[in-house]
Amino acid sequence: MKLFPSHLLKIVAVALFFLAPSSSSEDTMYQNSALVNNQNLTSTGDHLFRLGFFSLDNSSANGYLGIWYCNLTPQEGTVVWIANRNKPVNKSMASFNFTSDGNLILFEEDQTVWSTGTRSTGLNYARLQLLDSGNLVLNDSNSILWQSFEQPNDSDTYLPGMKLGFNNRTNTSWQQVSWKNSTDPSPGDYIRMIRALRIPDLVIFNRSAKYRRSGLWNGHEFVGHPSMANSQVAINFTFVSNENETYYMANSSNLVLSRSVLCDNGTFQRWFLGTGEWQLLWSIPEDVCDLYNYCGRNKMCTKKYNGPDCQCLPGLKIVENGCQREKPLNCSSNQFSKVPNVKVPDTENATSRGKMNLDDCKNLCLNDCSCVAYAVISGSYGCITWTGDLLDIRTFDDEGRNDLYIRLDHQSTINQTSVFFFLPESSTKKHAWVAIAIPLLLGFFLLCGVGVLVRWKRNRASTRLLLQLPNVCEGGSTPDDVSESRSSVSIDSEDSRDLHNTDKGVGLLNTLGLLPSYDLCTIKNATNNFSDGNKLGEGGFGVVYKGQLEDGQRIAVKKLSRNSSQGPNEFQNELSLIAKLQHRNLVRLLGCCIEGAERLIVLEYMENKSLDAFIYDKTKSSLLDWQKRLDIIIGIARGLLYLHQDSILRVIHRDLKPSNILLDRDMTPKISDFGIARIAEGERDLADGTTRPIGTFGYMAPEYLSCGYFSFKSDVFSFGVIVLEILSGKRNRTFGQANSGLNLLQHTYRLWKEGRSLDILDDAVSCSYPTIKILRCIRMALLCVQDNYENRPTMTEVVMMLTSEDHLIPLKQPIITSTRSDGDYTTKEMSITITGR
Ligand SMILES: *[C@@H]1O[C@H](CO)[C@@H](O)[C@H](O)[C@H]1NC(C)=O
Ligand SMILES: *[C@@H]1O[C@H](CO)[C@@H](O)[C@H](O)[C@H]1NC(C)=O
Ligand SMILES: *[C@@H]1O[C@H](CO)[C@@H](O)[C@H](O)[C@H]1NC(C)=O
Ligand SMILES: *[C@@H]1O[C@H](CO)[C@@H](O)[C@H](O)[C@H]1NC(C)=O
Ligand SMILES: *[C@@H]1O[C@H](CO)[C@@H](O)[C@H](O)[C@H]1NC(C)=O
Ligand SMILES: *[C@@H]1O[C@H](CO)[C@@H](O)[C@H](O)[C@H]1NC(C)=O
Ligand SMILES: *[C@@H]1O[C@H](CO)[C@@H](O)[C@H](O)[C@H]1NC(C)=O
Ligand SMILES: *[C@@H]1O[C@H](CO)[C@@H](O)[C@H](O)[C@H]1NC(C)=O
Ligand SMILES: *[C@@H]1O[C@H](CO)[C@@H](O)[C@H](O)[C@H]1NC(C)=O
Ligand SMILES: *[C@@H]1O[C@H](CO)[C@@H](O)[C@H](O)[C@H]1NC(C)=O
Ligand SMILES: *[C@@H]1O[C@H](CO)[C@@H](O)[C@H](O)[C@H]1NC(C)=O
Ligand SMILES: *[C@@H]1O[C@H](CO)[C@@H](O)[C@H](O)[C@H]1NC(C)=O
Repeated sequence: MKLFPSHLLKIVAVALFFLAPSSSSEDTMYQNSALVNNQNLTSTGDHLFRLGFFSLDNSSANGYLGIWYCNLTPQEGTVVWIANRNKPVNKSMASFNFTSDGNLILFEEDQTVWSTGTRSTGLNYARLQLLDSGNLVLNDSNSILWQSFEQPNDSDTYLPGMKLGFNNRTNTSWQQVSWKNSTDPSPGDYIRMIRALRIPDLVIFNRSAKYRRSGLWNGHEFVGHPSMANSQVAINFTFVSNENETYYMANSSNLVLSRSVLCDNGTFQRWFLGTGEWQLLWSIPEDVCDLYNYCGRNKMCTKKYNGPDCQCLPGLKIVENGCQREKPLNCSSNQFSKVPNVKVPDTENATSRGKMNLDDCKNLCLNDCSCVAYAVISGSYGCITWTGDLLDIRTFDDEGRNDLYIRLDHQSTINQTSVFFFLPESSTKKHAWVAIAIPLLLGFFLLCGVGVLVRWKRNRASTRLLLQLPNVCEGGSTPDDVSESRSSVSIDSEDSRDLHNTDKGVGLLNTLGLLPSYDLCTIKNATNNFSDGNKLGEGGFGVVYKGQLEDGQRIAVKKLSRNSSQGPNEFQNELSLIAKLQHRNLVRLLGCCIEGAERLIVLEYMENKSLDAFIYDKTKSSLLDWQKRLDIIIGIARGLLYLHQDSILRVIHRDLKPSNILLDRDMTPKISDFGIARIAEGERDLADGTTRPIGTFGYMAPEYLSCGYFSFKSDVFSFGVIVLEILSGKRNRTFGQANSGLNLLQHTYRLWKEGRSLDILDDAVSCSYPTIKILRCIRMALLCVQDNYENRPTMTEVVMMLTSEDHLIPLKQPIITSTRSDGDYTTKEMSITITGR
């Protein structure tokens, strides 16, 4: 304002006004006007949508009048509504006229291609407005004459505020119909609709055959579509069913911009606009069990790693084409078998009996000789009973689905191992505690007992193992004192930094015998006589210095402290291990040096020090966006997979934590510090050889902390903690102090259950938002930190989950169920530290 005289501004503004084409850059059209090619309406507000002519193949002949997202071109597949999807027009000959009597007509020359058939009541009051919701509204002085949301023309795309369902008064339906293909928007083979049945259900049809059933609405979601409830993005859905209409829609009041599309191959996707780009929220079918009745009649489908698993429902036997009862049911059949956590069978011919409890529903079924199964669904349909064959049943991994009760043939032999009897609610409850508590207690003692036993055996084995290891350095010493000091390893303090580093590119064969031995003078020169200025960090076993050899190569030197009694052990252990291990994600050993009492390990130098220097640091963590964090997580997983599975030795690291993950110039993570690592024998789990667990508090698995029992799975636990720390930028150990006593794992699990696990993300991550991947990662981490080590995935599975889209393991058990408070752990750990040193 100050720079420009105000009258000049006015002139510019007026000039601009006249330069602008009459009805463009506006959102409204009035009677007696028209839109032709290259003219458009644009919604005001956030300018999200545009109405105009477009073509999908750049040819003027295949023109359409439609609405698309402004910031994207129609070719990018974001057309949300088309007037003439069946009949393309020549764009240069077409016009979209708003007639004087209030009709909207699409002309190609003088031929009517499409029209709304509306008629305004008054004169010149009607107007057509494109709203920022994507709705095109024709309204008269006092009423809405027509709107694209009510007449979606069977669009393949649904926006919030659009209804999917049917109008019982007008006998019309709102349905989603796929395109033929990406350049031909005419109706394709797939239709997604809510059928007007006694129990309305949501089904995708492939022509007239059912393709995928989402089932009925249970008050929160469709029973066959768990991702709806598990969705981490707050999209609010409504389902309305009354005598006038039955519909389902995403609420338009949501802040989240979202759309759903039925693709030309039948896949249904829901997208939402994250920060600036579209993100896929879910895509169904999720697996083959989602396909309608994949397994056939009276069978249920369970997703397994190697594909779907089809099983007969309990009490039924395999016959030629499906499963059948051995003997037909009769009215006296009064036993039921519970099939937990399933998508209940197709309700097309089922009966809804209204809200009631399980007992009443069971009795209804018993009183109906033809009833073969029942279930109680929350929401308005309540008790549902089935007759005849049961179709399209699948199991779900996540809890919270419905239990289905199958009626059993009276005489059929009941297999106790596969069938649960129906017990009255009260008696189940009474014994539930005992039933759960006793095996739990027994299990705990057994676990510890086994731990002690195996530990004793292991103690001898590992000592032998170490003694047998050849001396890897030329002229090195033999580990005389190995056996006696075996059990006195200290805990590395959380804050100590073992930083060993070096330039990459020095190709040294780290095989036994070829490992070079440096002389002490060389190392002294390289590290400026171990000056404080060269000090990189300090660990439980000594100090790490950076250095530069005469040829310019940068190295990290780990100097074991002379007065540390455990030194030689760790030294030998670490040397013998890393000498044999070679992987992109493991730190590389360049050589060693033993002279007198000095024991030095020479490692590659890492420009970016260690992970903990990044993730907990406010400024440095901003350098790590989601992709970098994911790359680091995958790198660590690969390194660990190599240790566990692919190396000749099969190593358990036992002290994984961010300060032991080093980062090179390209931020490639490298696992370091094998001071307390162990070699596993065979496939079996392995117990600790020491009397106390050693490692770092906050990363140690519960069975290791309490029983000293360690295995590959305790490394997996530590890995899970690291992943959560990488994502959140917070330390598990200190997290509880600021968060009502919940540690990071418990907190994340709680958020996960509440559907807000993205809240744990570090600010630097949340700007880049491929939500589905982040959620998978959080879920994977939660799996890794399950209380029971058997429920944790192996590193093979972890790498699969991180790198492929389709290997999602169920998150079953509640995690960190331990009743001990965090405080107890801390006290315990402290005492370990003190006595261990
Ligand atoms: C929309 O209309 C404006 C004004 O006529 C024009 O500048 C713009 O190119 C049009 N956009 C499209 C995509 O047709
Ligand atoms: C349409 O034209 C644009 C630019 O001229 C080109 O990038 C695009 O590939 C063309 N699309 C098709 C389907 O030919
Ligand atoms: C479309 O109409 C224009 C103008 O009448 C004409 O020149 C062009 O050939 C037409 N295109 C086709 C494919 O018919
Ligand atoms: C449609 O509108 C255009 C532009 O106002 C006009 O030229 C054309 O004659 C109209 N078409 C009909 C059939 O009214
Ligand atoms: C007609 O549209 C205008 C502008 O969107 C709006 O202010 C008005 O309330 C609408 N009238 C009716 C009856 O919906
Ligand atoms: C889409 O289908 C039409 C026929 O309906 C066909 O001519 C066209 O080649 C198809 N396009 C693609 C990209 O498959
Ligand atoms: C969901 O919609 C209902 C009804 O419109 C509303 O009461 C509720 O607050 C909404 N919830 C969210 C999270 O937006
Ligand atoms: C549809 O309307 C008819 C009568 O108008 C009524 O009998 C029927 O129950 C309605 N359907 C639903 C699902 O409400
Ligand atoms: C159904 O429509 C009738 C007539 O329009 C109306 O009176 C009634 O309130 C509507 N019922 C519901 C539940 O909206
Ligand atoms: C179906 O098409 C969509 C959109 O093109 C694609 O994302 C999806 O992967 C396809 N699904 C299958 C099973 O081919
Ligand atoms: C429902 O009954 C009809 C008629 O008997 C039959 O064709 C259809 O397959 C049945 N549907 C289901 C899901 O059982
Ligand atoms: C009972 O079921 C289990 C598992 O389904 C099966 O292994 C076993 O053979 C069955 N026993 C009988 C007697 O059918």
